[in-house]
Amino acid sequence: CGIVGVIAKQPAAQMLLASLGKLEYRGYDSAGLAILEEGVLDRRRAVGKLSALVQLVADRPLPGTTGIGHTRWATHGGPTEANAHPHRSGPVAVVHNGIIENYLELKRDLAAAGYGFESQTDTEVIATLCASMLARGLSCEDAAAATIAKLRGAYALCFVFDGRPDLLICARRGSPLVIGLGEGENFVGSDAIALAAMTDRICYLEEGDWAVLTRDGVRIHDAAGNPVTREVQTVALETIIADKGQHRHFMAKEIHEQPSVIARALGAWISDDRHRIACAAEAVDWSGISRLTIVACGTAFYAAHVAKVWMERVARLPVEIEIASEFRYREPPLPARGVTMVVSQSGETADTLAALRYAKAQGQITLGLVNVTTSTIAREADIVLPIHAGPEIGVASTKAFTAMVLCLSALAVMIARKRGAIDAAGERAHVELLSTVPRLMSETIALEGQFEALARDIAEAKDALFLGRGLMYPLALEGALKLKEITYIHAEGYAAGEIKHGPIALVDEATPIVALAPHDALFEKIASNLREVMGRKGRVALIGDAGACREMGDEVWRSIALPAADPLLAPFLYAVAVQFIAYHAAVAKGTDVDQPRNLAKSVTVE
Ligand code: G6P
Repeated sequence: CGIVGVIAKQPAAQMLLASLGKLEYRGYDSAGLAILEEGVLDRRRAVGKLSALVQLVADRPLPGTTGIGHTRWATHGGPTEANAHPHRSGPVAVVHNGIIENYLELKRDLAAAGYGFESQTDTEVIATLCASMLARGLSCEDAAAATIAKLRGAYALCFVFDGRPDLLICARRGSPLVIGLGEGENFVGSDAIALAAMTDRICYLEEGDWAVLTRDGVRIHDAAGNPVTREVQTVALETIIADKGQHRHFMAKEIHEQPSVIARALGAWISDDRHRIACAAEAVDWSGISRLTIVACGTAFYAAHVAKVWMERVARLPVEIEIASEFRYREPPLPARGVTMVVSQSGETADTLAALRYAKAQGQITLGLVNVTTSTIAREADIVLPIHAGPEIGVASTKAFTAMVLCLSALAVMIARKRGAIDAAGERAHVELLSTVPRLMSETIALEGQFEALARDIAEAKDALFLGRGLMYPLALEGALKLKEITYIHAEGYAAGEIKHGPIALVDEATPIVALAPHDALFEKIASNLREVMGRKGRVALIGDAGACREMGDEVWRSIALPAADPLLAPFLYAVAVQFIAYHAAVAKGTDVDQPRNLAKSVTVE
């Protein structure tokens, strides 16, 4: 979703609409504005593309100069006018991007206190919570701060208040927000492009920051409420159009935007009431399917590998995964009444497309999980499943990988329900579990400095090994792929239990061994594999959680503790870890991060 807010000298509506036009790439199934007219909030909201809102505002103008706007990609609640932002409760209107994990709990408490709701969104709960704080006599600032303090999840927010045409309050946790500075006017938006027409002086809020904008100034507070200053940058228009945000590379931007990408993808895959997974693959009779074949290349293949573990565990469905270039020429027999799914960011990879055509010719039901929904694979698959990652520019895939894993996990939950492996309560619990992913990813992103320090040492190595077991095995493969793609360091990923069958011969003091080892049921197993390599002078970097680091932190060369998470969710966190290790090692080496040598984003030749 896209957010914009202005305290302007001229009428706000045209500025907000122009800005929302720039943000349409973030979603466009409904849009809305809330503007203060002589001190009183008024709203316009319309379903469909932004042009519908433009027409509505032309028919019923809003001349005020302070307001907020939003273009929406439905997450909670379908794309209806009632669910469109801004959401309002009494004297407060708010726009929001992200997922509030505890909104049901907050909604229950507010309902018990007599508050009613018009929409199914978590955003309306934020507005109502803030209104309830104002009703207790708190000032706008204190009410907003108290509201933010009660929210759990990943979000970007902007509030406006009745009677306060000189005030906007915004907050960032997990979804970016940029403040634009003017003369006698100030602005806020989801990215610099949204503000390009208003100002070239911008400053990026950091994780956990919240800010108070008035006509004459901006005050920023960090997560603990302390006043802070954030660097003001003068950004040339060309830089803004390239849209790397405050990042040096698209890859960095794409790593950082994963919490919002995952929130958006999840929103598109869950039912309005947030109880079920809802997607086009529900049309398949999963109870009668004996085996699912998943075919892909590169990073998409590793996403399929994670999916195999999820689907076997959650849906008890036998899954075969295949590298597309092998699958198509091996011409394997496929079970009657079978389903073949191809996974591809671009939807154009030649081998993956050929595999899809082969499966179709064998009479399989075909699913295409893609990012680019106008692609050839999307056109030819029987059922298209979009991952909603948005354009990925960096050649080394990051957000598309985690969005694939998210959608495949959601698919596993839906299949589990259809096969009777879980009941409605089980499905709801899994949906709730997946809703925590954006927050967990943003907590992992906050550890960037630690990954960077480790990456600087890894950058010196000629070879590196990545080890993992269970769900971490495909992440070890992905970690090694990321590192070799952008640093040109030779790296291999192994199932940790396999290392003694050969790769241990490579171990010496010069080879860093990155172990992906959450404190799960397999921890003791990988711990003994690591002791085997440390016995041969191997330098082990343990990427684990607090439990893992407590047990082994003293023995290893380096350790980094990720947030504790359900074992099924570990792939999302460890993906961020291996992405940062590769990224910062590449930056340290000075390689071309976004366009590494010899590689292409989309390989349309076999
Ligand atoms: C290329 C890219 C990889 C990508 C693979 C599959 O090799 O460099 O990053 O994983 O193609 O691409 P797809 O678009 O099918 O996911």
